[in-house]
Amino acid sequence: MSAGIARVGVVGGGQMGAGIAEVCARAGLDTVVCEVDAVAARTARDRAAASLGRAVRRGKLEQAAADDALARMAFTGSLDDLADRQLVIEAVIENPDAKTEVFAALDKIVEDPTAVLATNTSSLPIMRLGMTTQRADRVVGLHFFNPVPVLPLVEVVTSLHTSAGTTTAVENFATRTLGKTVIRSQDRAGFVVNALLIPYLLSAVRMAESGFATAADIDAGMELGCAHPMGPLKLADLIGLDTVASIAESLYDEFREPLYAPPPLLQRMVEAGLLGRKTGRGFHTYG
Ligand code: CAA
Repeated sequence: MSAGIARVGVVGGGQMGAGIAEVCARAGLDTVVCEVDAVAARTARDRAAASLGRAVRRGKLEQAAADDALARMAFTGSLDDLADRQLVIEAVIENPDAKTEVFAALDKIVEDPTAVLATNTSSLPIMRLGMTTQRADRVVGLHFFNPVPVLPLVEVVTSLHTSAGTTTAVENFATRTLGKTVIRSQDRAGFVVNALLIPYLLSAVRMAESGFATAADIDAGMELGCAHPMGPLKLADLIGLDTVASIAESLYDEFREPLYAPPPLLQRMVEAGLLGRKTGRGFHTYG
């Protein structure tokens, strides 16, 4: 069935959206990325171009293949340009209102009633997004990992309404078309990976907050002692501290377990605009 998916839309051109668009275009798909306006669409294009350039420099991609991938991507400021898409992947900020608004709009705009509307949410219920549409059976979670061109995993998350046909179509799409590895999760906040990862990251924030150890030592501990590619505070900076806090809030809302509660230091850093790599400063500082 995924052989039928040739036209993909991605809503949101941030680090996740641009990465998802890049892997779709690299897989030969006609890919339209929608941002809030033309300026943001231009920034998304620059982001995808920079990542393709990195892949070429690292010897992962031929220059001609990178040029082809960029040519297969169109960047727009209007959701109406997604009308003819067969699969749309929503990757806007991790905010319930923003996501439900996108789903309600896509349901009206995407013309093919059999098109699949997927979300890259890290933690919000797929059911809640599905119920804002008239096609909850065609709404599914397709959760990628950052950096998307590098990490092989996709979580496929099904709601109580997601049809078996939709699940098969997106699993085939993720594995056969994109070359990713799929794990399945039921529709519970955090799914598999974030339900395990976020409490670990929050523990590291609490450790730094209490003065127990420095950020540098916490990260070095996990990198050198456990062979993690990056320590928890560097990883939180990569994900974005606003996103980490939003996922923690969703987990806490769902399970009411103290281990999911966002620590005050994380909240204050988000309020201060210290969001990690994307703002140049989080637990570490970036040039
Ligand atoms: N396309 C293809 N390959 C690329 C690429 C691109 N655009 N950019 C980089 N690469 C490749 C490089 O060639 C390199 O491959 P080799 O090891 O085979 O040489 C590899 O990716 C690493 O790249 P770099 O050397 O440039 O970078 P690095 O060694 O400093 O690693 C990192 C950076 C990949 C981010 C690594 O530190 C890492 O994997 N960190 C952990 C990331 C992680 O845990 N992410 C999950 C976050 S959770 C999430 O995303 C979900 C959520 O909901 C919050």
